[in-house]
Amino acid sequence: MINPLRGMKDLTFEESQRFTHIIDTATRIAQRYGYSYIETPILEETALFKRSVGESSDIVGKEMYQFEDKGGNDVCMRPEGTAGVVRAFISAKLDRQPVKQKFYYYGPMFRYERPQKGRLREFHQFGCESFGEASVYEDFTIITMISQIFNELGIGFDLQINSLGCKVCMPRYKENLIASLTDIKEELCEDCNRRIGTNPIRVLDCKNEKCRLLLAESPKLIDYLCEECDPDFKKLTALLDKAGISYEVNSNLVRGLDYYGKTAFEFVSNEIGAQSAIAGGGRYDRLVEFLDGKPTPAVGFAIGIERIMELVQMPEVQREGIYMGAMTEEAVEVLFPLAAEKRKESKVTVEYNSKGFKSHMKGADKANAKYCLLIGEDELKNGTVWVKDLESKEEKTVLREAF
Ligand code: HAM
Repeated sequence: MINPLRGMKDLTFEESQRFTHIIDTATRIAQRYGYSYIETPILEETALFKRSVGESSDIVGKEMYQFEDKGGNDVCMRPEGTAGVVRAFISAKLDRQPVKQKFYYYGPMFRYERPQKGRLREFHQFGCESFGEASVYEDFTIITMISQIFNELGIGFDLQINSLGCKVCMPRYKENLIASLTDIKEELCEDCNRRIGTNPIRVLDCKNEKCRLLLAESPKLIDYLCEECDPDFKKLTALLDKAGISYEVNSNLVRGLDYYGKTAFEFVSNEIGAQSAIAGGGRYDRLVEFLDGKPTPAVGFAIGIERIMELVQMPEVQREGIYMGAMTEEAVEVLFPLAAEKRKESKVTVEYNSKGFKSHMKGADKANAKYCLLIGEDELKNGTVWVKDLESKEEKTVLREAF
């Protein structure tokens, strides 16, 4: 027997219903905010992720599904959605148009991580990317939209926010951070020591308990924000306060992807164990330029579908559609034209085997149909059908064409 690969899962039955309910809900809300659907390839040139997600990130450094294709190209299965959407935005020359563009997407992402609860090698994201709007109002609107998605899905969350500064304040901060980290270097873990050289702000994100304690005293980016970033961050918190969206400022929130600047955020659930981030995102005003497009401010997020799967409160299932069955062999084929007609507007389940009354009623119940339509000897002879409304329990016999 061949099983799925480690860290990869089939989505069937109840889980697939949860999956489609999440996608449908998020799609409906994203469309209300003016987002339109974008589909980009799963395979991209490896260079795209190296340049956007960043060479020093764990994703690029350790987790890429990277290989050489038959034409000798260095390609990679996307580990996230933003890079591909930005590439598509530039490929379509949308960076040269003055109009703002907003895209939503969903689909599989691939990261060669050590699988555990909530951490898969193939997982799915629903994401949004908004291009051309530099105002912090857009960051606020995006956070509002994610809150609305989680509220409609019945999912509780904690929101953490931070500002990662810009090219003015970040270098100043980095210098101070490196100096302070160098002082405690000996006591920090191996990973932290490597990161001091490659990407020092990622040290703040270390999960090691001893490092966390040591880092509590290190300089905070929030204290270094420049004249532009500081008022923007204050405006964002004021807007969230006003909207009644509670949040926590987490100055150690640095995100695992290198393209962010200014606003960064994560939605966290305390009901799903260690892998608690259910959505993450932020502003990435320099990425379009970095990938050779015209400078374009942008902000976005992605929700991890598998992580919220168990948390979703599913709507009550309603009886729907028609179950059609025959009680004699000759009547079976009479069902097909009837089914074809009804399928123009309703869900129809046709039972191909002729059966007794009780067995059909069971079948209709199992199909969760609203109506059960049966044709027996009498109905066949008279050109009628017997129909029962399984909600109101009302029964009637009517001419076939009248149903
Ligand atoms: P991310 O934080 O790497 O951001 O991923 C977003 C979400 O995907 C996470 O919060 C988590 O719920 C889910 N996720 C990540 N890795 C796994 C995994 N191995 N197994 C299951 N779920 C996972 C991004 O990917 C950015 N592209 C988000 C973004 C869009 N930023 C701006 N625009």
